[in-house]
Amino acid sequence: MALRNILTNDINFLHKKSKDITDFGDKLNEFLDDMVQTLHSRKDAVGLAAPQVGVLRRVAVIDVGDGVVELINPVIVNSVGEQISKEGCLSFPNIYKTVKRPNFVKVRSLNRAAEEVFFEGSGLFARALCHEIDHLSGIVFLDIAEVEEGEDDV
Ligand code: CO
Repeated sequence: MALRNILTNDINFLHKKSKDITDFGDKLNEFLDDMVQTLHSRKDAVGLAAPQVGVLRRVAVIDVGDGVVELINPVIVNSVGEQISKEGCLSFPNIYKTVKRPNFVKVRSLNRAAEEVFFEGSGLFARALCHEIDHLSGIVFLDIAEVEEGEDDV
């Protein structure tokens, strides 16, 4: 296992779209191990997406404190309600913006064995699922943040 370098403030790269994983096996497993180790090395981090470590593949890991969730080719299949809260990102240190998210989401994903798995949840877990899956589409939270009081709408 190895810690991966997290790209910071590289909005051009983070606006690129990631491709689906098609090859399952040792290389993917090692990458997921690295992603989890890198996520856990950062205090208060709840999620990390592959593009953040320079890899344009549809992979992300989340840990909101209930254990690691590994996402491979994830798709949101249902979303309900709304939550509005401050959000941050390891790729944009010390920036926190208000982002509106669904309060509940259900996600279809694959696991390391290329089997279909589903994850669902609300609150912070739903927010993390949306944030990380956005990364795979080349969307960062700054793109969809609410315009704040006193901030120019440019
Ligand atoms: Co992020």
